Amino acid sequence: MHQRTLGLWTRDPEPEILPTCAALGIGFVPFSPLGKGFLTGTVDASTSYPAGDMRTGMPRFTTRNRAANRVLVDQIATLAHARHATPGQVALAWLLAQHPSIVPIPGTRRTARIDENAAATQLPLSADELADLGELAQRVGVQGNRYNEDQMSLVDK
Ligand SMILES: NC(=O)c1ccc[n+]([C@@H]2O[C@H](COP(=O)([O-])OP(=O)(O)OC[C@H]3O[C@@H](n4cnc5c(N)ncnc54)[C@H](OP(=O)(O)O)[C@@H]3O)[C@@H](O)[C@H]2O)c1
Repeated sequence: MHQRTLGLWTRDPEPEILPTCAALGIGFVPFSPLGKGFLTGTVDASTSYPAGDMRTGMPRFTTRNRAANRVLVDQIATLAHARHATPGQVALAWLLAQHPSIVPIPGTRRTARIDENAAATQLPLSADELADLGELAQRVGVQGNRYNEDQMSLVDK
């Protein structure tokens, strides 16, 4: 089992690690599959985090980058709306569709959200929708590194 960040706004394991895992029969757990909440569409520039929340120190979660990164989430939300789903469900369904050995484990403190997130397994996305989402993520991109400089030096990019 391999664990690393992967999702609509973190694509770097795709060229090398995912094919290697698939070839060797190794499962892949993408941690932070909801982009630490951002891909659910419930986070924007006005969101505040409690002291000690790791996101306060993350470049991707500065106020400015949260505003900029809404472009991606708003477009995910448009597709979600058309499918009577939530943006988070679309983000999870996209991950699930990438390979059968990819097992996202979203984190939440709320029971209702466990049900919402689990329902993503019942949201098959069409080939066109998957391609559109992939293209969207590449085109729009994401502002801000996942971690600050010190933290980035500790991870295998
Ligand atoms: N991030 C890491 O470095 C890391 C490392 C190892 C293991 N993990 C584990 O991986 C799992 C998930 O990672 P993660 O928690 O970092 O990120 P994540 O699953 O991408 O996102 C979790 C965040 O999304 C929010 N959320 C979840 N479902 C939601 C929904 N349906 N609507 C709106 N907001 C929603 C949660 O808030 P609420 O709690 O308020 O719902 C929480 O703030 C956790 O079990 C974590 O312990 C993470």
